[in-house]
Amino acid sequence: MSALTDLYHEIENCQGCGLAKSRNRVVPGEGAEDASIFFIGEAPGWHEDQQGRPFVGPAGQFLTQLLTLIGLRREQVYIANVIKCHPPQNRDPLPMEIEACCGWLDRQLEIIHPRMVITLGRYSLSRYFPNESIGKAHGKARKVGDVIVFPMYHPAAALHQGSLRNIIEEDMRKVPMILAQKEEISEVAHEPRQLNLL
Ligand code: URA
Repeated sequence: MSALTDLYHEIENCQGCGLAKSRNRVVPGEGAEDASIFFIGEAPGWHEDQQGRPFVGPAGQFLTQLLTLIGLRREQVYIANVIKCHPPQNRDPLPMEIEACCGWLDRQLEIIHPRMVITLGRYSLSRYFPNESIGKAHGKARKVGDVIVFPMYHPAAALHQGSLRNIIEEDMRKVPMILAQKEEISEVAHEPRQLNLL
């Protein structure tokens, strides 16, 4: 068994917070173990909770379309969330749920060791840049340790606010150039740490 499969078994048995009682399926994440790009969303929604897979609902369909814009398929990247279980009524994750869950994401990142992390929305942005707003941070790549971190709006944002669709697509189109290091990438000193949005 691979390190990732072992980790999935551990995550599936997690009782670390109250969501263990309300969830239908745990949604650990999925994708290539040798992926260069690691996407981090927020939390599984209803569809994800039914299927045990990340980004399979409407936001996921848009994410899949965004990947095709840059010639990638889902299987070539890695996709996970800040928290692994669906919060009831799609509410925002609670600080203690994020705290209880962040060790799983740390271990996924250690195993996959991607070249680039793409944060989707404000919860994963906050893991790397706790004091920044998505409106300012999106579309700008920065190096955190040896990883390039590239914040983007959450794909669901475009479903609620159509005007964001072009911005999200434009940001996604920058990804190949950034990976090829053809754009200047500034260094950030601190190590990532998930901070809760209060
Ligand atoms: N939104 C997320 O943040 N993650 C998913 O897996 C689905 C929707």
